[in-house]
Amino acid sequence: MTVITNIEDLRILAQKRVPRMFYDYADSGSWTEGTYRANASDFQKIKLRQRVAVNMENRSTRSTMVGQSVAMPVAIAPTGLTGMQHADGEILAARAAKKMGVPFTLSTMSICSIEDVAQHAGDGFWFQLYVMKDRDFIERLIDRAKAARCSALVLTLDLQILGQRHKDLKNGLSAPPKLTLANMINIATKPGWALGMLGTKRREFGNIVGHVKGVDNMGSLSEWTAKQFDPALNWGDVEWIKKRWGGKLILKGIQDVIDAKLAVESGADALIVSNHGGRQLDGAQSSIECLPTIVEAVGQQIEVHMDGGIRSGQDVLKARALGARGVYIGRPFLYGLGAMGEAGVTKCLEILHKELDITMAFCGHTNIETVDKGILLPGTYPLPMSA
Ligand code: GLV
Repeated sequence: MTVITNIEDLRILAQKRVPRMFYDYADSGSWTEGTYRANASDFQKIKLRQRVAVNMENRSTRSTMVGQSVAMPVAIAPTGLTGMQHADGEILAARAAKKMGVPFTLSTMSICSIEDVAQHAGDGFWFQLYVMKDRDFIERLIDRAKAARCSALVLTLDLQILGQRHKDLKNGLSAPPKLTLANMINIATKPGWALGMLGTKRREFGNIVGHVKGVDNMGSLSEWTAKQFDPALNWGDVEWIKKRWGGKLILKGIQDVIDAKLAVESGADALIVSNHGGRQLDGAQSSIECLPTIVEAVGQQIEVHMDGGIRSGQDVLKARALGARGVYIGRPFLYGLGAMGEAGVTKCLEILHKELDITMAFCGHTNIETVDKGILLPGTYPLPMSA
């Protein structure tokens, strides 16, 4: 077996081991996938400045996100259907994150339920909320996250309607997968995945099935989203959700200065500059290009996080230099999970940590807290829109 040394190795392995429908779900963007690709490729344009003969002993990547101590400023992003990349996926990823000392965010659209993750991976993880039309369900969901002692709520604001992902429609994405001939032929080539799935009871949307009135079968994900997610979500809802939750609140999906200012007014603890991994508004700016504008507008008033396109520790460092207090990784941990389960997520986090630590040192810093724009080559990084 090849030695795994970077995130791309994990991706290649995941592609071999995960049924096509679920691999494609993770590894795609909406429509032309232009924004999806720009998220990662725009990081490549930013150049770092090397320093030499700086004492590199006693380095630290430790920081905080919403006041919580993190071993490095990287959280695991909420991703739907994680338990379809690998049996019991959310529990395994939450355990790996806990061991590493970084936050794990559980998606509303997870396979393992909030209670299940709390019971098998311990409490303190973050919970991501999608708002559906059934408000009783949403209130109960918030209460369930509280009861499970989740330590932050991540409210997603950019997915009340779904950006079209061609592959999901073509593959007939559903969880569990329908046993069509094409699916069975594909699954037959993924015996490890299939055995894992046969050995677990967790094959449906654990937070939803049995909790939302009338939902015992979700059919196609895109149809279900269209029926259940509330397109009327607005800032008034953010207010009651904040009140009902009562803990740390993070608003996910901010790209515009107007919305960033509204996020500050809402009293949230942090916002995430995000285009949902290029899965929603295709044609939007990449997250790293957007970041400096948002940081300049509201960075003094609210903690700014970002996600989208992080594939290495170098990317984490660049985002931090441009003002992100922390970043989230989605696809990198999913590749790790699909490739090797919990060990793969641990591997993913170790790879990112090592790359971050060594790159920070090359740039002349021993403590992540002192890193700023000074490590970036002028002319190669994005400036605020007002500049
Ligand atoms: C859901 O969050 C998705 O992007 O599919």
